[in-house]
Amino acid sequence: MPRTIFVTTALPYANGSFHLGHILEYIQADIWVRCQRMAGHTVYFVGADDAHGAPIMLKAESEGITPRELVARYASERPRYLASFHIGFDHWHSTDSPENIALSRAIYRQLKSAGFIARRTIEQFYDPIKGMFLPDRYIKGECPRCHAKDQYGDACENCGAVYAPTDLIGPYSTLTHTTPVLKSSEHFFFRLSDPRCVAFLREWTTGVNGQGEQHLQPEVQAKTREWLGRAADGDAHLDDWDISRDAPYFGIEIPDAPGKFFYVWLDAPVGYLASLQAYCEKAGLDFNHLIDPAGATEQVHFIGKDIVYFHALFWPAMLKFAGRKTPDGINVHGFVTVNGQKMSKSRGTGISPLRYLEIGMDAEWLRYYFAAKLNQHVEDVDFVATDFTTRINSDLVGKFVNIASRAASFITKHFDGELRYAGDTDALRATLSDTARSVQELFESRDYSRAVRRIMACADDINQAFDTAQPWVKAKGIRTADAAQKAALQDACSRALAGFKALTVMLAPVLPALSRRVAGELFGEGDSYCWADAAVLPAHIAPFKHLMQRVDPKLFDALFEKADAAGGADAAGTAASAPGGEAISATIQMDDFAKIDLRIAKIVDCSAVEGSDKLLRLSLDVNEGRPRQVFSGIKSAYSPQDLIGKLTVLVANLAPRKMRFGVSEGMVLAASHHDKQVDGGIYILEPWPGARPGMRIN
Ligand code: MSP
Ligand code: ZN
Repeated sequence: MPRTIFVTTALPYANGSFHLGHILEYIQADIWVRCQRMAGHTVYFVGADDAHGAPIMLKAESEGITPRELVARYASERPRYLASFHIGFDHWHSTDSPENIALSRAIYRQLKSAGFIARRTIEQFYDPIKGMFLPDRYIKGECPRCHAKDQYGDACENCGAVYAPTDLIGPYSTLTHTTPVLKSSEHFFFRLSDPRCVAFLREWTTGVNGQGEQHLQPEVQAKTREWLGRAADGDAHLDDWDISRDAPYFGIEIPDAPGKFFYVWLDAPVGYLASLQAYCEKAGLDFNHLIDPAGATEQVHFIGKDIVYFHALFWPAMLKFAGRKTPDGINVHGFVTVNGQKMSKSRGTGISPLRYLEIGMDAEWLRYYFAAKLNQHVEDVDFVATDFTTRINSDLVGKFVNIASRAASFITKHFDGELRYAGDTDALRATLSDTARSVQELFESRDYSRAVRRIMACADDINQAFDTAQPWVKAKGIRTADAAQKAALQDACSRALAGFKALTVMLAPVLPALSRRVAGELFGEGDSYCWADAAVLPAHIAPFKHLMQRVDPKLFDALFEKADAAGGADAAGTAASAPGGEAISATIQMDDFAKIDLRIAKIVDCSAVEGSDKLLRLSLDVNEGRPRQVFSGIKSAYSPQDLIGKLTVLVANLAPRKMRFGVSEGMVLAASHHDKQVDGGIYILEPWPGARPGMRIN
């Protein structure tokens, strides 16, 4: 029975670039989505930026831009990252969108008319200087239990105590470092204390979906059981959830409540629906039909372990009591760690996905590595360089790709690319089909590590059969050999290649780009595989082309982010590096620097200098009422047209120098590497927009 599945990943806060944890989540979801699509199911796979909330508002403010500008900046880099890691979202949206505003308000209204919204006046810390109520994270003070200083307003990092910000001793606002005052204000609450909520959530959190699978993993269920209290406890209830925030807040204004906004966690999950709706509009699909509570669509969310409370309690309850379709599955993964430690730039254990790509690491290596380590449990995934190298080089390249490179050369050389199988192929097809089916089931149940192990065991079998057949022996003197020897060689190679194709099908959810190339370029069978293709024996091949690079362990030197690597302390302390190929010069005092008068100059004219192959003649406007003539040795890097009209930096008080071609009245600044072997380029300085000729540079 073909299924229709609506799949999401958590919506990343739009105040930063993707980190490796985000990419892990997208890869996990993407593999599952591809697996379902290969089975012929229809999947709508969407994501979005989580745009609202106080941190985004405050970060934008500190940069002197609007929250929308900040969000747009990060949103603009998303497509490149996603495409590079082959994450096949159908659509990427934003919670700051008309769809989300309308849907959030509609859900709120439904909750309100069902009696699930309460209004209450509460007292909260307010920063009178900043003029805003302070989220817990922006209040610090002394822990009331262990008396550790500078603890956040919600929990102590030293002793683990959880408390209210008002419990802190000597509380202060981290925004202004002043003491906050208590101020009262009316807030809106989602009445989770209603007995119907606990009753529903007890049922939902232990329930199964149409596929007969639990909504939640066992360990997640154990958590929710704790939160919901013992089944026998008739008094168990949840606290009401504060869903409003006062202006100033970057968010969605609550209907009929001017100056009150939805707390970001109210409208964030609604963003899942908003993104699907926007996609439906684009693709001409019926959104309301897809989210019909009586309909057949399955709704599956992939999230990390830190946001279970919102997804396993608040979100299903919101949907349920707004009369909507509830989720069919919440799949929770653990966190990425690096060498067993939390990712951290300062410890040199941060890995930026962009850097990973920039230094030339293959996106499919990472997909394979994560697949090899992910399972259906909430376990952390540790990134270890040596482990990564072994899995790619020994397993993926050594076992899998190697089959094709070994077998293909015989077929191309001796049989003109034609595959032929001697005797009965039923057993071969049955084996490949059975293996593919069990691999498919393992992917479907998100036990990716076992799926990968099963695939590699199959690769071992194929390699072994190939070795046993000793094709290199059979190939000796093949031109004069008898038909039986030829047939045996062709058969051994054909079976190995049929196995390779089946492995490619099984790895297609993990290695979509490579499998596409194998399907198209090697076997000429179109551009994508479905599960059933695993047992369809290929008939011919094109000459083998290189498929995947091995990992060079040197790459890891460049991969790990180190905070402030070229910073003063490091440079002085280690003296090991010579940035730009030369050591930093002896220390000078401010007075020394002040002697150099640097000015913004506009290049009003520029021409080559006859008789010199190094120099360009620049005419510079420094707003002195007359142009200056400067000769600069940048001819190898720029042509005059590149420079005319541009701004640059001039050393304006350098003593004039008489040259063969005329007097040079100053010097323009350019960067270069000391070692021309490393980088022979010359890079002229250009100020940021807004600088004008004559301005001094301090
Ligand atoms: N904006 C909220 C989610 C709203 S969903 C309606 C949020 N954003 S986040 O950017 O902090 O995290 C997005 C996802 O990345 C979450 O699922 C989170 O668990 C996951 N991860 C964040 N750090 C991670 C790791 N170090 N490792 C793996 N996943 C991690 O939470
Ligand atoms: Zn404490």
